[in-house]
Amino acid sequence: MCGIVGYTGPREAYPIIIKGLKRLEYRGYDSTGVALQNGGVKVYKKKGKVAELEEAIVGKNLHAHVGIGHTRWATHGEPSDRNAHPHQSSSGKLAMIHNGIIENYSQLKNELIKKGYVFHSDTDTEVLLNFIEEIKTNNSCTLEEAVRIALKRVVGAYVILLVDADDPETIIAARKGSPLVIGIGKGEHFLGSDASPMLEYTKEVVYVNDYELAIVRPDELILKNLGNEKLTPYVQKLDLELAAIEKGGYEHFMLKEIFEQPQTIYDCLRGRLDASNGTITMSGIQQYADQIVKASRIVIIACGTSWHAGLVAEYIIEELCRINVEVEYASEFRYRNPVITKGDVIIAISQSGETADTLVAIETAKAKGAIILGVVNVVGSSIARISHGGAYTHAGPEIGVASTKAFTGQLAVLTMIALKIAYIKGSISHERYMHLLNELQEIPEKVAWVLKNSEHIKKIAEKYKDARDFLYLGRGYNFPVALEGALKLKEISYIHAEGYPAAEMKHGPIALVDDSLPVVFIATRDAYHEKIVSNMQEIKARKGRVISVITEGDEHSTSLSEDVMIIPEADEIVAPMLSVVPLQLLAYYIGVAKGQDVDKPRNLAKSVTVE
Ligand code: AGP
Ligand code: GLU
Repeated sequence: MCGIVGYTGPREAYPIIIKGLKRLEYRGYDSTGVALQNGGVKVYKKKGKVAELEEAIVGKNLHAHVGIGHTRWATHGEPSDRNAHPHQSSSGKLAMIHNGIIENYSQLKNELIKKGYVFHSDTDTEVLLNFIEEIKTNNSCTLEEAVRIALKRVVGAYVILLVDADDPETIIAARKGSPLVIGIGKGEHFLGSDASPMLEYTKEVVYVNDYELAIVRPDELILKNLGNEKLTPYVQKLDLELAAIEKGGYEHFMLKEIFEQPQTIYDCLRGRLDASNGTITMSGIQQYADQIVKASRIVIIACGTSWHAGLVAEYIIEELCRINVEVEYASEFRYRNPVITKGDVIIAISQSGETADTLVAIETAKAKGAIILGVVNVVGSSIARISHGGAYTHAGPEIGVASTKAFTGQLAVLTMIALKIAYIKGSISHERYMHLLNELQEIPEKVAWVLKNSEHIKKIAEKYKDARDFLYLGRGYNFPVALEGALKLKEISYIHAEGYPAAEMKHGPIALVDDSLPVVFIATRDAYHEKIVSNMQEIKARKGRVISVITEGDEHSTSLSEDVMIIPEADEIVAPMLSVVPLQLLAYYIGVAKGQDVDKPRNLAKSVTVE
């Protein structure tokens, strides 16, 4: 969810807004726009960068003292000029920008269409805006009151800024689940997703809380709750510098994104997983459910970390759905004239949705008649567009080159797909289905639990940072986690690391073991636990230095380990979303301890759009 900026006061609004949007560029986005109070509400918006919008409107009459601006990270409706914000209401009098997701937008949209509303975009935002206007018109109430009534019916996350041609000095703002900061100036007010757009004008800010509404004028800030009770704004003094704000106070984007995972996994499940009613709603999967259920095999195509997510999915889908799964490196698959039959289902996994090898591999399979389901983070990306169906991971922009929150988002989506198919097939019992839904629902707070031990993991990182090589070993669901942990370490710290199935050690690699070799075991409690403990003993007997990711309370594994990183109890099917987190932190802290550029590691790109 991206960025918003607003200004009301005596200065020229446009320069403040456009500079503020540039300050928010670090949040990643696909389109941008502004609305200015200038003899009515004037909207300028387009797909692409802020600089492209700026260039496109040079020479226009941009004079205004009140305005709002937006950078979009699409969730509903692909990146395009028409889907960019601000959106204008049916009457043209209101303009609104929004960060977040309105989950019940399609129900609201249907109600409005029945009342004759016509929509000009595919976004959930335009629906909310017209819903507000409908209430204002129908109830002959103020805009503020209409916003309050509308937001009581809205399900989802939002921060909205609204301007009204009939009240040109006022900006109405509200938030739930997405950030909103209001800067207090002398006879002026600033609004932003964070404080970066206002930092040079004021250090006095109000952080708006969930379910609060702000009516902002040049010399007035009124804060209310949705029950129309006035609240006293709590004004804080900003002591953060710009660079720190961009990273949310974290030292690096990678660390910020690791710590965002409780929220991003929650966002990924939001509106889809309903554990109490036992339902999983994924329209992009539902429409192909028959083909998936009948498929003789599922081929998963991906690269890098996404390929590791595919390996986890192989274990889960085969276990729950009893469908044969093959996981393919896209770069190999595309060149070897693969055998694809018409009924095959392809799951293509990609954070960026632009990885060249994955894109071409999909096109190869699609040409041979396979059904393509994309599990992608960037809405409207190439892979999303050429796929028949699929589901977005909704992890938000991932800036750090090393994929972290996108990986756990992929696992959450893939687990929901497996559960949905297993339910349709009847290939698991109802109680196991319900148990796994509850296990999945608990993951966000369990990830938060793991993150509380970050300081302990930092100490482990500093202890082993000078090792020349690492081995990562796991079995079953934790074997792909071992591969992912090794990749994280390699790409962030430049230390050589290998992931291996733990049982495979005796077929050669155990020759590497001596007292200089840290061996990281992913040894969480699962069906393979006894075996992995034996592997730990084999390594210990050869003086290997055992570091283990274990389940809370596992004293035996602790006794075999020099250092442990702990996760809470969880079903083995969902445990990879937990056991990977200590490995992400271990790689990050070793990279920092070695002075590496952890957000932009050497030789790497965030999206590998070359072959
Ligand atoms: C993961 O940390 C790496 N940045 C890399 O392996 C990445 O996963 C791979 O390039 C695939 O990218 P994608 O998910 O955007 O397709
Ligand atoms: N859900 C809205 C859209 O897709 C807002 C996305 C955002 O947070 O930028 O347009």
